[in-house]
Amino acid sequence: MDISRHTDKIAIVTGAGSGIGRATAIRLAAEGASVFACDVNEVGMQDTKDEISSQDGQCVVIACDVTNQLDVDRLVSQVGSRIDILANVAGIMDHFLPLGEVDDATWDRVMNVNLTGVMRLSRAVLPMMITQGGGAIVTVASKASLSAGAAGVSYTTSKHAVIGLVKSAAYFYGPKGIRSNAVLPGPVETNIGTTATPLSAWAIERAGLSMATMPPAAKADQIASVISWLASDEASNVNGSVVSADGGWASA
Ligand SMILES: NC(=O)c1ccc[n+]([C@@H]2O[C@H](COP(=O)([O-])OP(=O)(O)OC[C@H]3O[C@@H](n4cnc5c(N)ncnc54)[C@H](O)[C@@H]3O)[C@@H](O)[C@H]2O)c1
Repeated sequence: MDISRHTDKIAIVTGAGSGIGRATAIRLAAEGASVFACDVNEVGMQDTKDEISSQDGQCVVIACDVTNQLDVDRLVSQVGSRIDILANVAGIMDHFLPLGEVDDATWDRVMNVNLTGVMRLSRAVLPMMITQGGGAIVTVASKASLSAGAAGVSYTTSKHAVIGLVKSAAYFYGPKGIRSNAVLPGPVETNIGTTATPLSAWAIERAGLSMATMPPAAKADQIASVISWLASDEASNVNGSVVSADGGWASA
């Protein structure tokens, strides 16, 4: 923890009502940032804000569905005239549904939140970051960005695809001072299990083979600390990177 690392920085954190997003909002605020916490879970966001306020940090909560362009526009206009950090954390699982069993609603929902939502937020902050001469975007992807045995087809596809978005943004906007990087967690103690209940018995059995090497679940702050570092000036030469924070799972 570096309590002055983000002094005077303005940060947006999506998915800030729970898990890794909450831990990220709390950490960025503890390290000096003014945090705009966004989520569809308003009760969760308020809990996040209360925790930040109890530590004398700065946090504004804004209800925002990352899949909804009007919500995203409203969020960015409410933040004001400067955005230094965007942490794209909001995400959902896909009940481990494999290709032959996935329904359109699951596919669309997962792609909308995990991929299109990241595009909407990242696109929305770019004009301000370009005008101010720089900014840092950190996107939470997954071990499922690298391999197929940790989720169903929708989640795996969304998390592979979002790496392309992260790298494209890094390549095209790096010369404008904007850095875009991804963090790839393995298992983390959060509430994502609500969308992870297996709905296909044979698929979870098959996924279990890959999960046999899964390390114990990390704490959400173990991911937030990596997000905070990537967003900080200490990572000023890190752009387009895919940083695993999975306890070594990807090396198994
Ligand atoms: N927990 C894990 O084991 C794990 C592993 C790898 C990657 N991840 C990734 O970490 C990120 C955070 O997940 P988590 O584990 O903290 O889960 P979580 O369920 O605890 O938190 C996710 C938050 O995102 C919010 N959210 C969902 N849809 C939204 C939308 N449309 N708009 C705004 N907010 C929305 C939820 O309300 C929730 O508060 C996700 O991108 C997830 O894919 C998690």
